[in-house]
Amino acid sequence: MNRVFARVLPVLIFLFFHVSNSENEEVKQSLVSFMDQLAAANVERDQSWGWNMTSDPCKHKWKGVSCDLQLQSVKKVVLDELNLTGVVDIGLICKASSLSVLSLVNNDVVGLISEEIGNCKRLTHLYLNGNRLTSHLPDSLTQLSNLKRFDISNNNFSGKVPDLSRISGLLAFLVQNNQLSGDIPTLDFSNLMQFNVSNNNFSGPLPDVKGRFSGNSWSGNPQPCGELISKACPPAPPSTPKSKDSSRKQFLIYSGYAVLGVIILLFVSFLLVSKWKPKEDKADVAEKGVFAYSSSTYDESKTSVHKSEYSVGSEESGVIMSPLVVLTSPTARALRFEDLLRAPAELLGKGKRASLYKVRLDNGATSLAVKRIKDWRVTSQDFKRRMQRLHQARHPNILPSVAFYSSKQEKLVVYEYQPNGSLSRLLQLQGSENGETFDWGSRLNVAATIANALAYMHEELSEDGIAHGNLKSTNILFNDNMDPCVSEYGVMVLENDFRRFKEDVYGLGVILLELVTGKPVQGDGMELVQWVNSVVREEWTVEVFDRGLVLEGASEERLVILLRIALKCLNPNPNERPNTNQVALMINTLRQDEDESSSYQQLSGW
Ligand SMILES: *[C@@H]1O[C@H](CO)[C@@H](O)[C@H](O)[C@H]1NC(C)=O
Ligand SMILES: *[C@@H]1O[C@H](CO)[C@@H](O)[C@H](O)[C@H]1NC(C)=O
Ligand SMILES: *[C@@H]1O[C@H](CO)[C@@H](O)[C@H](O)[C@H]1NC(C)=O
Ligand SMILES: *[C@@H]1O[C@H](CO)[C@@H](O)[C@H](O)[C@H]1NC(C)=O
Ligand SMILES: *[C@@H]1O[C@H](CO)[C@@H](O)[C@H](O)[C@H]1NC(C)=O
Repeated sequence: MNRVFARVLPVLIFLFFHVSNSENEEVKQSLVSFMDQLAAANVERDQSWGWNMTSDPCKHKWKGVSCDLQLQSVKKVVLDELNLTGVVDIGLICKASSLSVLSLVNNDVVGLISEEIGNCKRLTHLYLNGNRLTSHLPDSLTQLSNLKRFDISNNNFSGKVPDLSRISGLLAFLVQNNQLSGDIPTLDFSNLMQFNVSNNNFSGPLPDVKGRFSGNSWSGNPQPCGELISKACPPAPPSTPKSKDSSRKQFLIYSGYAVLGVIILLFVSFLLVSKWKPKEDKADVAEKGVFAYSSSTYDESKTSVHKSEYSVGSEESGVIMSPLVVLTSPTARALRFEDLLRAPAELLGKGKRASLYKVRLDNGATSLAVKRIKDWRVTSQDFKRRMQRLHQARHPNILPSVAFYSSKQEKLVVYEYQPNGSLSRLLQLQGSENGETFDWGSRLNVAATIANALAYMHEELSEDGIAHGNLKSTNILFNDNMDPCVSEYGVMVLENDFRRFKEDVYGLGVILLELVTGKPVQGDGMELVQWVNSVVREEWTVEVFDRGLVLEGASEERLVILLRIALKCLNPNPNERPNTNQVALMINTLRQDEDESSSYQQLSGW
């Protein structure tokens, strides 16, 4: 049952969270309308601002807009101190669902934060301070689980604050100088660094602020009480009966759950049935080995393969059952081995023991990456166990395999194809003219994301001893959202061996070096490591850093820290290397420092 659930879960997650990100005409239209309303009458908007239908927000660098590396989606809109006086329409700006920063500090805009703020799922920074915004805060704020800084101070907001206590990454909560009422909000104070609810209409108990904040964080409210200020709170009023409206809402929510439950049940039973039936046939076929590749049809020297090379000797024999094991995925759900064999394929890369193909299905509507590994002396049973174990230990930044195939001669591992290229390629493009700059903040983010994902996998798979085994920058792929994903986890090394974890740490060290030096490596990276070591020994450390980063104004101090972390990972003695958990911790701390210092520079523009 557990396994079935593990199969269903990814599908559900995919269904719920899959969003497309390229800014289409509709999004653009919304952004243009947003600005039209904001800059209503007064502001002289010269044409260089962009924000019109004949230009592109990313490619033509609209005023205040920053995009992702691929110029696909709008990430930041910063329009501070521009004398804007119009109306804020959150519904319009949140059509750009990849938005992570919205800042309208010290203008004179009116309006409210509407329910649609919930569509800005990736929002991390919301700065609306110093305007004339009114009305109550919407419940959908609770859905902004990535929120780090929330500043609506110096406005005219009123009503209660929704429960934000589950947003654990919150660093700043600034709502001073409004007319908010109700209880003083309880937040997750574990990461909070700035907290100010002064000059509102809050009453009731002070939350446990963990000794970090004092009187001037909540002064100017009528009736705070609680242990913190040794003032007893009045007994709670009897709870009012639920209104008709809210019970209807609840009914809707619960019936929603019920429908979802039925869908899950149907899906599970479908899986059980479909899994149960082919089992005996499957064994049959595997024994006959009908689908083993004939080695003669595979020509190593060619740079691309076509369907003939994938075809098998006995294609005409009419056997339909396939030994391809499909791990649940929307792409591969109905995938059969024959489909893979017949589809056009293109060779992406080739190593000593493995090749990587891009395979197009459904007339090109779906693309898969197929890793083909030869002479892997591991039994089909062990291979299957390993693939399923890997499938259970899922992490959003570890690319999961969607299917696999195993025969004596070779193994196939199937992934969804990632169109945005690898980290190695991104670094290579940096020198060229039209490459989008891969700035320090993004690099630190990539470093932290990879380290966190690896730390998670190492922890999950520590007992099984399954390490990545082949960690390098060509295996770090960017997904649709340009989030880095580690691919090919655990498919290239044979034995389960915990010593491999320290090899992953070494691989991670090389990747960190590539990020700080901007020099992508070929092969094992030995040359780069030696060069960096020699420069550092001569105390010319600054020489190793990517010039682009230095010009950008990246903090040299933090560059040095990341370099030191890299060198620790590269210690020739595996036992003296830190483990991935320690590496992740160091990089996360560094990233937090960076976050802090860059948010203080908000007014000088991102
Ligand atoms: C639209 O924006 C582009 C890019 O900023 C600008 O060059 C162009 O003049 C603008 N067009 C109009 C009609 O304002
Ligand atoms: C905003 O208005 C003030 C006063 O009218 C003016 O001095 C300032 O330059 C304006 N700022 C911008 C960015 O237009
Ligand atoms: C804020 O709202 C109150 C009423 O809710 C109003 O009396 C007051 O003038 C407003 N203040 C500002 C600065 O708009
Ligand atoms: C302040 O809150 C109380 C209830 O907590 C409410 O009765 C009162 O009208 C509020 N005052 C203002 C100015 O909003
Ligand atoms: C909170 O805001 C009030 C009003 O602006 C200010 O006087 C106070 O110093 C602030 N408290 C903190 C801790 O920043």
